[in-house]
Amino acid sequence: MGRLSSGSRKLPIPDWDRLGLLGESLLERRSVRSYSPDTIPEEDVSLLLASACGVSDPVDGLRTAPSGGATYPLDLYVVSETGVEQYVPEAHSLVLIKEGDTRSDLAHHSYRQSFIARAPVTFVICADYPRITSRYKDRGIRYAILEAGHIAQNIHLACVSLGYGSVAVGAYDDDGVAKALGIEERGHVIYLIPVGRPV
Ligand SMILES: Cc1cc2nc3c(=O)[nH]c(=O)nc-3n(C[C@H](O)[C@H](O)[C@H](O)COP(=O)(O)O)c2cc1C
Repeated sequence: MGRLSSGSRKLPIPDWDRLGLLGESLLERRSVRSYSPDTIPEEDVSLLLASACGVSDPVDGLRTAPSGGATYPLDLYVVSETGVEQYVPEAHSLVLIKEGDTRSDLAHHSYRQSFIARAPVTFVICADYPRITSRYKDRGIRYAILEAGHIAQNIHLACVSLGYGSVAVGAYDDDGVAKALGIEERGHVIYLIPVGRPV
């Protein structure tokens, strides 16, 4: 490795092949905002949810994404044509929260980012802060938001592996989105992740 005059040094060229499929996913991930209208098959939704924050260690109840003190303050919702459902990692199941297509409302409250209305599925990450602030006080807010990033990245990388495109969305009206989805009593909306087949 040659030294550069400024005191910085050149690193070896990354050997992405050593990371296998993970390397491919990391290299290929790009924000995708244009989707085929096809619905996402349930087995794919299942795999994306399991990747996001599914239970990977059933003995200790630990998940694919790290969580401050394993307090798991975040909930993941699935918004699709049929309604809004909440993912329950422990049971790997979905619970219906609101019936009907809220995707246009979701896009409207996201400063009219119209691609959100056209995404067959949008994952919504919400924080129930008391679950973590009861242990870490105000710092728990930071931990919860950091954890959302872990979950989001798991979704993005799993999407690439399955041939889907996704994008992180942080520009939305918190209260408007929560009301549109019927989750206003359930915590704070941190992140939206629309997903679909890229077109
Ligand atoms: C916290 C955060 C919020 C974002 N919010 C939006 C958003 O509201 N709308 C959008 O189209 N993209 C959003 N993005 C995606 C960025 O625009 C995108 O990641 C960036 O342009 C880099 O492109 P890439 O993801 O293809 O590498 C957001 C990304 C992050 C990390």
